[in-house]
Amino acid sequence: MKFTVKQIDIRKKEYVTILMYLQKHCLPGDKPMKIDRGHWWIAYAENGKPVGFAGLTRSSQWTNAGYMCRAGVLPEYQGHGLQKKLIQVRIQKARRLNWEWLITDTTNNPASANSLIAMGFRMYMPSVPWAWKHSNYWRLNVFAKRKKERSEERRVGKEC
Ligand SMILES: CC(C)(COP(=O)(O)OP(=O)(O)OC[C@H]1O[C@@H](n2cnc3c(N)ncnc32)[C@H](O)[C@@H]1OP(=O)(O)O)[C@@H](O)C(=O)NCCC(=O)NCCS
Repeated sequence: MKFTVKQIDIRKKEYVTILMYLQKHCLPGDKPMKIDRGHWWIAYAENGKPVGFAGLTRSSQWTNAGYMCRAGVLPEYQGHGLQKKLIQVRIQKARRLNWEWLITDTTNNPASANSLIAMGFRMYMPSVPWAWKHSNYWRLNVFAKRKKERSEERRVGKEC
């Protein structure tokens, strides 16, 4: 499956409506988050249907960190790497904003945890935990990840 991921302008009502629809269908048990701040993306299938979304806000605790606040993929489109794409766009955005860290949490969510691991995130324990007692906390140094990728590219280049 091919997807197009687009950063959207939350001042436009039509995008907020799509984000509310996606939140409702991807996270039916959760109260939809109000879309009034931060950076948001919508993923579209080849036929133009919105099928996934992701949000990023500035961390309320650390000035050099972004918080990956929410993401979801419609059930029929899961398992095709879309969440990882939605993590990648937020890593790129964090670098552009000069945020050194991306942080997030998961609760009873092995699929999300596996996507985060695949994208280089590591578990950690924040000094001030903000979620549930049984939540897991994740962080990634976005600049260290780029440095590592570049040195791996150079190494592969030499070997070829
Ligand atoms: C979590 C979610 C966003 C994943 O989306 P996705 O596009 O299917 O994710 P990806 O295809 O990029 O990757 C999912 C990873 O988890 C793995 N996975 C999928 N289901 C799994 C499960 N039940 N248990 C363990 N791992 C699982 C996949 O194999 C994949 O790992 P891999 O890269 O090593 O193959 C999607 O399942 C979803 O929207 N769930 C409901 C909403 C939600 O939980 N949102 C996140 C919290 S806000």
